[in-house]
Amino acid sequence: VARVRRLHPDPAELDADAFLAEVRFPAAARDERPHVAINMVASVDGRTAVRGLSAPLTSPFDRALFHALRGAADAVLVGTRTLAAERYAPLVRDPARREARVGRGLAPVPIACVVTRSGQVDFSVPLFDEPEQTVVVFSGRPLAAPDRPADVQVVELDAAALEPSEALSLLRSQHGVDTVLCEGGATLNGALMRAGVVDELFLSVAPALAGDRAALPVVAGEAAAPAPLELRWMLEADDTVFLRYGVTRAG
Ligand SMILES: NC(=O)c1ccc[n+]([C@@H]2O[C@H](COP(=O)([O-])OP(=O)(O)OC[C@H]3O[C@@H](n4cnc5c(N)ncnc54)[C@H](OP(=O)(O)O)[C@@H]3O)[C@@H](O)[C@H]2O)c1
Repeated sequence: VARVRRLHPDPAELDADAFLAEVRFPAAARDERPHVAINMVASVDGRTAVRGLSAPLTSPFDRALFHALRGAADAVLVGTRTLAAERYAPLVRDPARREARVGRGLAPVPIACVVTRSGQVDFSVPLFDEPEQTVVVFSGRPLAAPDRPADVQVVELDAAALEPSEALSLLRSQHGVDTVLCEGGATLNGALMRAGVVDELFLSVAPALAGDRAALPVVAGEAAAPAPLELRWMLEADDTVFLRYGVTRAG
Protein backbone atom coordinates (compact mmCIF):
# COMPACT_ATOMS: atom_id res chain seq x y z
CA VAL A 1 0.00 0.00 0.00
CA ALA A 2 1.43 3.34 -1.05
CA ARG A 3 0.36 6.22 1.16
CA VAL A 4 -2.49 6.39 3.65
CA ARG A 5 -3.65 9.71 5.07
CA ARG A 6 -5.97 10.13 8.01
CA LEU A 7 -8.21 13.11 7.33
CA HIS A 8 -10.31 12.79 10.50
CA PRO A 9 -9.72 12.85 13.43
CA ASP A 10 -6.19 14.29 13.78
CA PRO A 11 -4.98 14.55 10.16
CA ALA A 12 -1.73 12.60 9.72
CA GLU A 13 0.23 10.37 7.35
CA LEU A 14 -0.19 6.79 8.61
CA ASP A 15 2.02 3.75 8.62
CA ALA A 16 -0.55 1.45 6.98
CA ASP A 17 0.67 -1.80 8.53
CA ALA A 18 0.89 -0.36 12.04
CA PHE A 19 -2.54 1.22 11.70
CA LEU A 20 -4.17 -1.97 10.41
CA ALA A 21 -2.58 -4.10 13.13
CA GLU A 22 -4.40 -1.96 15.70
CA VAL A 23 -7.88 -2.12 14.14
CA ARG A 24 -10.30 -3.43 16.76
CA PHE A 25 -14.03 -3.49 17.40
CA PRO A 26 -15.28 -1.93 20.61
CA ALA A 27 -15.99 -4.45 23.37
CA ALA A 28 -19.58 -5.68 22.96
CA ALA A 29 -21.78 -3.62 25.23
CA ARG A 30 -24.88 -5.77 25.03
CA ASP A 31 -25.59 -9.21 26.37
CA GLU A 32 -28.27 -10.34 23.95
CA ARG A 33 -26.29 -9.95 20.74
CA PRO A 34 -22.74 -9.36 19.52
CA HIS A 35 -21.31 -6.06 18.30
CA VAL A 36 -22.17 -5.85 14.57
CA ALA A 37 -20.15 -3.96 11.96
CA ILE A 38 -20.90 -3.83 8.22
CA ASN A 39 -18.02 -3.45 5.75
CA MET A 40 -18.76 -2.44 2.16
CA VAL A 41 -17.10 -0.78 -0.82
CA ALA A 42 -19.20 1.43 -3.08
CA SER A 43 -18.64 3.63 -6.11
CA VAL A 44 -19.08 7.40 -5.77
CA ASP A 45 -22.60 6.92 -7.20
CA GLY A 46 -23.34 4.47 -4.36
CA ARG A 47 -23.27 1.17 -6.27
CA THR A 48 -21.83 -1.92 -4.61
CA ALA A 49 -21.05 -4.00 -7.70
CA VAL A 50 -20.05 -3.69 -11.33
CA ARG A 51 -21.57 -6.43 -13.51
CA GLY A 52 -22.39 -8.38 -10.35
CA LEU A 53 -18.99 -8.23 -8.63
CA SER A 54 -17.36 -5.89 -6.13
CA ALA A 55 -13.78 -6.50 -7.35
CA PRO A 56 -13.72 -3.57 -9.86
CA LEU A 57 -14.35 -1.19 -6.91
CA THR A 58 -11.66 -2.40 -4.58
CA SER A 59 -8.06 -1.18 -4.15
CA PRO A 60 -4.92 -2.31 -2.26
CA PHE A 61 -5.72 -0.53 1.03
CA ASP A 62 -9.38 -1.55 0.77
CA ARG A 63 -8.31 -5.19 0.57
CA ALA A 64 -5.87 -4.68 3.45
CA LEU A 65 -8.60 -3.12 5.62
CA PHE A 66 -11.03 -5.90 4.61
CA HIS A 67 -8.53 -8.47 5.95
CA ALA A 68 -7.72 -6.42 9.05
CA LEU A 69 -11.44 -6.31 9.91
CA ARG A 70 -11.72 -10.06 9.42
CA GLY A 71 -8.67 -10.36 11.65
CA ALA A 72 -10.54 -8.67 14.50
CA ALA A 73 -13.94 -10.43 14.22
CA ASP A 74 -15.21 -13.57 15.94
CA ALA A 75 -17.64 -14.26 13.09
CA VAL A 76 -18.22 -13.11 9.50
CA LEU A 77 -21.82 -12.91 8.34
CA VAL A 78 -22.45 -12.92 4.60
CA GLY A 79 -25.56 -12.92 2.42
CA THR A 80 -26.30 -16.08 0.46
CA ARG A 81 -26.25 -14.22 -2.87
CA THR A 82 -22.88 -12.67 -2.04
CA LEU A 83 -21.51 -16.07 -0.96
CA ALA A 84 -22.41 -17.48 -4.37
CA ALA A 85 -21.65 -14.45 -6.59
CA GLU A 86 -18.25 -13.76 -5.03
CA ARG A 87 -17.39 -17.49 -4.80
CA TYR A 88 -16.48 -17.11 -1.12
CA ALA A 89 -13.07 -18.51 -0.16
CA PRO A 90 -11.86 -19.63 3.31
CA LEU A 91 -11.93 -16.51 5.50
CA VAL A 92 -8.32 -16.48 6.76
CA ARG A 93 -5.81 -18.50 4.79
CA ASP A 94 -2.52 -16.78 5.63
CA PRO A 95 -0.79 -18.56 8.57
CA ALA A 96 0.63 -15.23 9.82
CA ARG A 97 -2.89 -13.76 9.99
CA ARG A 98 -4.14 -16.83 11.84
CA GLU A 99 -1.27 -16.49 14.33
CA ALA A 100 -1.99 -12.81 14.84
CA ARG A 101 -5.61 -13.68 15.69
CA VAL A 102 -4.52 -16.30 18.21
CA GLY A 103 -2.14 -13.74 19.74
CA ARG A 104 -5.18 -11.56 20.38
CA GLY A 105 -7.09 -14.33 22.06
CA LEU A 106 -9.28 -15.11 19.02
CA ALA A 107 -9.82 -18.42 17.23
CA PRO A 108 -7.39 -18.87 14.28
CA VAL A 109 -10.30 -18.49 11.82
CA PRO A 110 -13.55 -16.60 12.36
CA ILE A 111 -16.82 -18.51 12.16
CA ALA A 112 -18.60 -17.94 8.85
CA CYS A 113 -22.34 -17.47 9.11
CA VAL A 114 -25.18 -17.35 6.59
CA VAL A 115 -28.90 -16.89 7.11
CA THR A 116 -31.37 -18.32 4.61
CA ARG A 117 -35.15 -18.46 4.71
CA SER A 118 -35.34 -20.51 1.48
CA GLY A 119 -32.59 -23.00 2.38
CA GLN A 120 -30.78 -22.22 -0.86
CA VAL A 121 -27.06 -22.09 -0.14
CA ASP A 122 -24.31 -22.66 -2.70
CA PHE A 123 -22.18 -25.24 -0.91
CA SER A 124 -19.86 -25.56 -3.93
CA VAL A 125 -17.94 -22.35 -3.14
CA PRO A 126 -14.31 -22.72 -1.92
CA LEU A 127 -15.25 -21.60 1.64
CA PHE A 128 -16.45 -25.16 2.23
CA ASP A 129 -13.11 -26.67 1.11
CA GLU A 130 -11.32 -25.61 4.30
CA PRO A 131 -11.42 -28.19 7.13
CA GLU A 132 -10.59 -25.54 9.76
CA GLN A 133 -13.52 -23.36 8.72
CA THR A 134 -16.70 -23.55 10.81
CA VAL A 135 -19.77 -22.40 8.90
CA VAL A 136 -23.03 -21.90 10.78
CA VAL A 137 -26.06 -21.91 8.48
CA PHE A 138 -29.32 -20.65 9.98
CA SER A 139 -32.03 -22.05 7.74
CA GLY A 140 -35.77 -21.55 7.64
CA ARG A 141 -36.18 -24.79 5.66
CA PRO A 142 -34.95 -28.30 6.37
CA LEU A 143 -31.43 -28.49 5.00
CA ALA A 144 -28.94 -31.37 5.11
CA ALA A 145 -25.36 -30.41 6.02
CA PRO A 146 -23.30 -30.97 2.85
CA ASP A 147 -20.53 -33.54 2.63
CA ARG A 148 -17.74 -30.96 2.48
CA PRO A 149 -14.42 -30.58 4.38
CA ALA A 150 -15.59 -27.52 6.33
CA ASP A 151 -17.41 -28.01 9.64
CA VAL A 152 -20.90 -27.02 8.50
CA GLN A 153 -23.46 -26.70 11.28
CA VAL A 154 -27.03 -26.28 10.07
CA VAL A 155 -29.41 -24.71 12.58
CA GLU A 156 -33.01 -25.06 11.46
CA LEU A 157 -35.29 -22.35 12.75
CA ASP A 158 -38.94 -21.63 12.19
CA ALA A 159 -38.98 -19.54 8.99
CA ALA A 160 -41.28 -17.04 10.70
CA ALA A 161 -38.77 -16.58 13.53
CA LEU A 162 -35.76 -16.45 11.22
CA GLU A 163 -34.72 -12.86 11.66
CA PRO A 164 -31.09 -11.76 11.60
CA SER A 165 -31.42 -10.73 15.27
CA GLU A 166 -32.34 -14.31 16.17
CA ALA A 167 -29.23 -15.61 14.38
CA LEU A 168 -27.10 -12.98 16.14
CA SER A 169 -28.38 -13.93 19.60
CA LEU A 170 -27.68 -17.59 18.89
CA LEU A 171 -24.15 -16.77 17.72
CA ARG A 172 -23.67 -14.99 21.02
CA SER A 173 -25.26 -17.56 23.32
CA GLN A 174 -24.15 -20.78 21.61
CA HIS A 175 -20.84 -19.87 19.96
CA GLY A 176 -19.56 -17.18 22.34
CA VAL A 177 -19.36 -14.64 19.51
CA ASP A 178 -18.69 -11.06 20.70
CA THR A 179 -18.10 -9.35 17.35
CA VAL A 180 -19.69 -9.97 13.96
CA LEU A 181 -18.40 -8.49 10.73
CA CYS A 182 -21.11 -8.40 8.04
CA GLU A 183 -19.64 -8.33 4.54
CA GLY A 184 -22.94 -7.61 2.77
CA GLY A 185 -24.66 -7.64 0.42
CA ALA A 186 -27.13 -4.83 0.38
CA THR A 187 -30.18 -7.08 0.94
CA LEU A 188 -28.75 -8.59 4.12
CA ASN A 189 -27.53 -5.14 5.26
CA GLY A 190 -31.08 -3.84 4.82
CA ALA A 191 -32.52 -6.60 7.00
CA LEU A 192 -29.92 -5.90 9.71
CA MET A 193 -30.55 -2.15 9.59
CA ARG A 194 -34.32 -2.60 9.81
CA ALA A 195 -33.83 -4.89 12.79
CA GLY A 196 -31.77 -2.14 14.47
CA VAL A 197 -28.83 -4.45 15.10
CA VAL A 198 -25.99 -2.60 13.34
CA ASP A 199 -23.43 -0.75 15.47
CA GLU A 200 -20.88 0.36 12.87
CA LEU A 201 -20.44 0.85 9.14
CA PHE A 202 -17.11 0.72 7.34
CA LEU A 203 -17.63 2.22 3.90
CA SER A 204 -14.93 2.53 1.25
CA VAL A 205 -15.85 5.04 -1.46
CA ALA A 206 -14.06 3.99 -4.63
CA PRO A 207 -13.01 6.64 -7.17
CA ALA A 208 -15.43 5.47 -9.86
CA LEU A 209 -18.91 6.19 -11.18
CA ALA A 210 -20.24 2.68 -11.69
CA GLY A 211 -23.27 3.70 -13.68
CA ASP A 212 -24.61 0.20 -13.18
CA ARG A 213 -28.36 0.46 -12.71
CA ALA A 214 -28.69 -3.20 -11.73
CA ALA A 215 -26.24 -2.89 -8.84
CA LEU A 216 -27.68 -2.25 -5.39
CA PRO A 217 -26.73 0.58 -3.03
CA VAL A 218 -25.08 -0.15 0.34
CA VAL A 219 -28.41 -0.84 2.03
CA ALA A 220 -31.36 -2.17 0.02
CA GLY A 221 -35.03 -2.07 0.88
CA GLU A 222 -37.27 0.37 2.69
CA ALA A 223 -36.05 1.92 5.91
CA ALA A 224 -38.53 3.21 8.48
CA ALA A 225 -36.44 6.36 8.85
CA PRO A 226 -32.99 7.57 7.79
CA ALA A 227 -30.35 6.06 10.07
CA PRO A 228 -28.15 8.78 11.58
CA LEU A 229 -24.42 8.05 11.45
CA GLU A 230 -21.54 9.47 13.44
CA LEU A 231 -18.16 9.80 11.70
CA ARG A 232 -15.38 7.98 13.56
CA TRP A 233 -12.62 8.12 10.99
CA MET A 234 -11.96 9.21 7.43
CA LEU A 235 -8.87 7.96 5.61
CA GLU A 236 -7.65 8.32 2.05
CA ALA A 237 -5.45 6.00 -0.02
CA ASP A 238 -5.27 5.32 -3.76
CA ASP A 239 -7.95 8.05 -4.23
CA THR A 240 -10.40 5.88 -2.24
CA VAL A 241 -11.99 7.40 0.88
CA PHE A 242 -12.44 5.11 3.89
CA LEU A 243 -15.22 6.03 6.28
CA ARG A 244 -15.92 4.46 9.65
CA TYR A 245 -19.27 5.41 11.11
CA GLY A 246 -21.05 4.60 14.33
CA VAL A 247 -24.73 3.87 13.77
CA THR A 248 -26.69 5.89 16.30
CA ARG A 249 -30.04 4.58 17.41
CA ALA A 250 -33.04 6.73 18.07
CA GLY A 251 -34.45 6.62 21.60
N1 LIG B 1 -19.36 -3.77 -2.65
C1 LIG B 1 -19.39 -4.58 -1.64
O1 LIG B 1 -18.74 -4.33 -0.61
C2 LIG B 1 -20.22 -5.82 -1.71
C3 LIG B 1 -20.33 -6.64 -0.59
C4 LIG B 1 -21.15 -7.77 -0.67
C5 LIG B 1 -21.80 -8.05 -1.85
N2 LIG B 1 -21.66 -7.24 -2.92
C6 LIG B 1 -22.40 -7.54 -4.16
O2 LIG B 1 -23.77 -7.57 -3.84
C7 LIG B 1 -24.44 -8.56 -4.62
C8 LIG B 1 -25.20 -9.51 -3.72
O3 LIG B 1 -25.97 -8.77 -2.78
P1 LIG B 1 -27.53 -9.00 -2.62
O4 LIG B 1 -28.04 -7.83 -1.88
O5 LIG B 1 -28.10 -9.30 -3.97
O6 LIG B 1 -27.66 -10.32 -1.77
P2 LIG B 1 -27.14 -10.73 -0.28
O7 LIG B 1 -27.49 -9.65 0.69
O8 LIG B 1 -25.73 -11.17 -0.36
O9 LIG B 1 -27.99 -12.01 0.00
C9 LIG B 1 -29.38 -11.88 0.04
C10 LIG B 1 -29.98 -13.14 0.58
O10 LIG B 1 -29.86 -13.18 2.00
C11 LIG B 1 -30.87 -14.01 2.51
N3 LIG B 1 -31.54 -13.48 3.70
C12 LIG B 1 -31.60 -14.11 4.88
N4 LIG B 1 -32.33 -13.45 5.77
C13 LIG B 1 -32.79 -12.37 5.13
C14 LIG B 1 -33.65 -11.32 5.53
N5 LIG B 1 -34.16 -11.24 6.75
N6 LIG B 1 -33.96 -10.37 4.61
C15 LIG B 1 -33.43 -10.43 3.39
N7 LIG B 1 -32.60 -11.42 2.95
C16 LIG B 1 -32.30 -12.38 3.82
C17 LIG B 1 -31.90 -14.15 1.41
O11 LIG B 1 -31.87 -15.51 1.03
P3 LIG B 1 -33.20 -16.37 1.31
O12 LIG B 1 -34.18 -15.91 0.30
O13 LIG B 1 -32.77 -17.77 1.18
O14 LIG B 1 -33.63 -16.01 2.70
C18 LIG B 1 -31.45 -13.25 0.31
O15 LIG B 1 -31.68 -13.76 -0.96
C19 LIG B 1 -23.36 -9.26 -5.42
O16 LIG B 1 -23.34 -8.70 -6.71
C20 LIG B 1 -22.08 -8.90 -4.70
O17 LIG B 1 -20.98 -8.86 -5.58
C21 LIG B 1 -20.90 -6.14 -2.87
